[in-house]
Amino acid sequence: RLHQGDTIPEWFTFPDVVKILRERHPAQARQGFSLFFTGLSGSGKSTLAQAVLARLLETSSRPVTVLDGDEVRRHLSKGLGFSREDRDANITRIGYVASEVVRHGGIAICAPIAPYAGARADARQLVETHGRFVEIHVSTPLEVCEARDRKGLYAAARAGKIKGFTGIDDPYETPQSPELRLDTSTMTVSEAADRVVDWLRQEELA
Ligand code: PPS
Repeated sequence: RLHQGDTIPEWFTFPDVVKILRERHPAQARQGFSLFFTGLSGSGKSTLAQAVLARLLETSSRPVTVLDGDEVRRHLSKGLGFSREDRDANITRIGYVASEVVRHGGIAICAPIAPYAGARADARQLVETHGRFVEIHVSTPLEVCEARDRKGLYAAARAGKIKGFTGIDDPYETPQSPELRLDTSTMTVSEAADRVVDWLRQEELA
């Protein structure tokens, strides 16, 4: 058995070393985790993800990666459309990258629509091999998202100019047991971000 200050024998296996480092440096050796925001277009996922990012950067020295819906589609998922197959492929890619970030002890903040429960479950499974998966349903009602219509996409979908738009003529499967559910029409972004950070503190993740 090793004691504080002992050197680690070179014949120790990798899991032994990880265990010893965790005992000696519990804060630094904490497991990574993924915050997975899911909700309709315009529900406030990206805004909330950015607010949580700002708070985590203030309090944590751990690396944080943001995998935002629009950003991911410009790079990682370039070329994918919005069929069920393509949306599922998009979420699997996000889940895989998040799992790699978590494997290295980082924080992965994801903010896609992720309308299908099956794909969200697959992403959870990938991430949970290495750390916690925190599903946050941004449950802002469709009427509010549509009234906001920041990108004019709801109007285009209603006019039939965009086919298969989530919430209009494409499904959104409501998460049944997310770790958190937050409606940005009943609280400010700052209050919603506080709720996320409070939950993380309660779970000793932040
Ligand atoms: S998904 O379903 O998780 O793969 O979608 P995601 O990668 O998050 O991309 C959502 C953004 O793409 C724009 N967009 C559409 N959304 C829904 N349905 C259709 N048909 C569609 N076409 C384009 C839209 O701007 C989404 O951005 P957010 O930030 O969610 O508003």
